[in-house]
Amino acid sequence: MRLSMIKINENFLDLQDNYLFSTIAKKVAKFQEEHPDKKVIKLGIGDVTLPLAKSCVDAMKKAAEELLYKESFRGYGPEQGYDFLKEKIIKYDYKSRGIDLDLDEIFISDGAKCDTGNIVDIFAKGNKVAITDPVYPVYLDTNTMSGRAGKYNESTGRYSNIIYMPCTSENNFEPQFPDEAPDIIYLCFPNNPTGTVCTKEQLAKWVKYAKDNKSIILYDCAYECFITEENIPHSIYEIEGAKDVAIEFKSYSKTAGFTGVRCGYVVVPKKVYGYTEKSEKVSINKLWNRRQCTKFNGVSYVTQRAAEAIYSEEGQKEIKENIKYYQENAKIIRNGLQESGFLVYGGVNAPYIWLKLPDGVKSWDFFDELLNNIGIVGTPGVGFGPCGEGYFRLTAFGSRENTEEAMKKIKEYFIRESKV
Ligand code: MLT
Repeated sequence: MRLSMIKINENFLDLQDNYLFSTIAKKVAKFQEEHPDKKVIKLGIGDVTLPLAKSCVDAMKKAAEELLYKESFRGYGPEQGYDFLKEKIIKYDYKSRGIDLDLDEIFISDGAKCDTGNIVDIFAKGNKVAITDPVYPVYLDTNTMSGRAGKYNESTGRYSNIIYMPCTSENNFEPQFPDEAPDIIYLCFPNNPTGTVCTKEQLAKWVKYAKDNKSIILYDCAYECFITEENIPHSIYEIEGAKDVAIEFKSYSKTAGFTGVRCGYVVVPKKVYGYTEKSEKVSINKLWNRRQCTKFNGVSYVTQRAAEAIYSEEGQKEIKENIKYYQENAKIIRNGLQESGFLVYGGVNAPYIWLKLPDGVKSWDFFDELLNNIGIVGTPGVGFGPCGEGYFRLTAFGSRENTEEAMKKIKEYFIRESKV
C-alpha cells in the first residue's frame, strides 16, 4: 500500500460556502416545496425569459441540416472560433465604432462567465488583483481557486490579498484608484450588480492608470447593449491606448438571449503584454491562444451560426426589440421602487436595478422578507461583497407580466407596511 494519497487544491477550501446564485436557487426551491401553492416571481439571477430570435433559430436549423451531409459536415472547428463570426464581430461591434481589430485578436467562447474565470490561468499567482466591491462573484472566486486571494477574514468579509475598490452611493459607484497599484484590475461596465456606468472620461483615467502601473484591465462589458445614454463607452477600445492594456469580454447571453445557447467572445489585442520574473515581455494574446488550444475545442458550429445571425438585418431588428422589452421592464422596476419610497440606482443603462435598503436592514433579511411575504426573489447585495450590504438587486429579465405583478406587490406591501 502506498503511503501518499491524492491531494486536493486547497485553494478551493478558501471559497465561501456556495456560489451565490446556487444558494439563492436552493433557498427558493425550499420555499416552493414548503409553499407549493404560493406564486414565486424570480427577479434574482439575470437569466433572460424571452425566446431566441427567429433568425438565430433558423440559422441553427440550417447549420444542423448541413451537418447531415458528407459535403457540408464539420468536425472540430478552430479553437478560436470561425472567421465568419469573427468577421461580423469586427465589422459590426468594433469597426462601426472606429475600432480596428484583427481576426486573431478575437476568441469565440461559450460565454463571459467562463472567459472571465479562465483568464486567470495565464497570470502568475503572485499578481495583485483589484476588484470592485460589490462585484460579480466569478472574478473573486476564480482568483481564490487559483490561490491569489489569500486568507478570508470573517469579520471584514474580505480576502487578505485582494484589493477592494468600494462602490457605494457615497462615491457614486465610481471605483477609486487603490493606494497599492494592482497588477490585474477587473472593471465591469455597465456594472453587475449595481447597474451603474462609467463615462469615457472616467474610463480613460483607468486606461492611463493601467499604463502608468504596467497593469492589465480585464474589462467585462457583457451588458453593453443596454446602454441608452450618450458618452458611455460600449467598448474600452473607444479609449485611446486601451489596446495596450485591456482585455475585453463580451457575451451574447443578455444581448441576444443566449444564456442557454452559450456564446460570447474575448478580445485580446496583440499589443497587450505581460512580463516574466526576469522582466521579459510576453504577448498575452499568444498565451491565451495557447491556453485555448489546449483546454478548449471551440464553440459548436451550430451555435456560431446562430451568433452570426444576430448581425443580419432581421437579427438586429429582433434582438433590439427584446432589449427594448427588458429596458422597459427596468423602467417599470425603477418607477415601482421609487414610488414605494426606495432609493434606486442603475436600470437606465443596464438590466440591473440596485436599491438601497432602509438604514439597518440587512440584504439577506430583506431577501427573506420579500420571498416569505410576497413571493418575490431578488439578489442580496452582500452576496456581491461587503459593500453590497444594505443593498438589493432586481433584474429586468423577467416577463412583463411578472415584472408588473412584482412591482404591484412591492408597492402594496411597502406602502401598506410603511416600511421605507
Ligand atoms: C447575474 O445574475 O449576475 C448573471 O446572470 C450571472 C451570469 O451572467 O453568470
